[in-house]
Amino acid sequence: MTGAIARRFRRFAETEARGHSPLYETLANGVASDPDILTFLAELPAAKQQPNLLLAAVRFVCGIQTNPGDFHAAFLARKEAIRAEMLNRRTQTNEPSRCAVLLPVLSLLPGPLALIEVGASAGLCLLPDRYGYAYDGHRPFGPKPLLPCRTNAATPVPTTHPEIVWRAGLDLNPLDVRDDDDMAWLETLVWPDQPDRASRLHAAIAVARADPPRIVSGDLLTSLPALAAEAPPDATLVVFHTAVLAYIAAPDARARFGGIVRDLNGVWISNETPRVFHPGLAGPKGAFLLSVNGEPTAWTDPHGAWIEWFAK
Ligand SMILES: C[S@@+](CC[C@H](N)C(=O)[O-])C[C@H]1O[C@@H](n2cnc3c(N)ncnc32)[C@H](O)[C@@H]1O
Repeated sequence: MTGAIARRFRRFAETEARGHSPLYETLANGVASDPDILTFLAELPAAKQQPNLLLAAVRFVCGIQTNPGDFHAAFLARKEAIRAEMLNRRTQTNEPSRCAVLLPVLSLLPGPLALIEVGASAGLCLLPDRYGYAYDGHRPFGPKPLLPCRTNAATPVPTTHPEIVWRAGLDLNPLDVRDDDDMAWLETLVWPDQPDRASRLHAAIAVARADPPRIVSGDLLTSLPALAAEAPPDATLVVFHTAVLAYIAAPDARARFGGIVRDLNGVWISNETPRVFHPGLAGPKGAFLLSVNGEPTAWTDPHGAWIEWFAK
C-alpha cells in the first residue's frame, strides 16, 4: 500500500510539479521516501491520499516548509491537526486563469450565454466576463486581473468579452468567496513558488466578492438537469468543467455524465486531463484536453497559461 502511495507522489513530482514548482517537486519526492508520512497516508481513505491535499494541509497547519527535513519535522509535530484538515477539506483549487483557455470557445458561440460550471469550487471560473486578458501578441482587454495566456497561430484569440446573462455553479462542496476561512484554504492550494498565480487568485476573489456567483450544492451525476432547467431559454446554454472529471473514478460514471450533458442540448466544454474522456490521445506532457461537444479542440496548460488549438 505504501509503495503505491510513494509511486503516486513520485508521479506527481515528475509530471505535475516539475517545471512549475521546484519546491513541491522536492517535497513530494521527499514524502515518497518518508516511511512515517507514507504510513500516515495509508491510514487515510484513498480519496484523501492526494499529494496536493497533504502538501496544502501541512502548509495550512505549519506554514511553508522549504526542504524535506523540515517538512518531516513539521509533520511529526502537528500530525493530528494535519489529519483533521485532510479529512475535513478537499482539493478545490480554483484557478481563474482557466478562463483564458475557455474564452476562445465562449467567444465563438452565439450569445447571449447562460453558463453552468460543474465542479465550480468558489465559482471564479464562472466570471470570464469580469477579468482582463493578455493573449501574447494581441492587445490586452478588460479589467484587472489581467490573465496572461500564450497561444498558437490556430487559436481564435478573442478580442472582447462574450455577453453572459445568467450563470450558476454546481459543486459537492461549494466554497463561499465571502468566507475568509474558505478563501484562506484556496490560497493555500496555490503552490508556494507561484506568486503570480497567488496574486491573480487574490484579485479574482476581490472581483467575485463584489457580486458572488451562485453555487448550488449537488453531485454532477444527479443535480445538473434541475439546475439547467433554470437557465433562460433564449440564451445559449453552456455547461463546462475544468479539472473535475478526474474525481469521478469510474469510466462508466464519466460516460453517464457525458450523456446527461448531451441531453441538455446546450454546448458542452470539457477542459480535463485527456485520461478522462480520450485516454488514447497524447498531447504535451501534463496538458489538459479542451473538447467541445466531445470533439477534441485544443491542448491547454492545466492552470490556463497557454492554449494550443488544433481543431479545424
Ligand atoms: C480542482 S477543483 C476545480 C475547480 C474549478 N473548476 C477550476 O477549474 O478552478 C474540482 C472541484 O470539483 C468538485 N467536484 C468533485 N467531484 C464532484 C462531483 N461529483 N459533483 C460536483 N462537484 C464535484 C470539487 O468539490 C472541487 O470543488
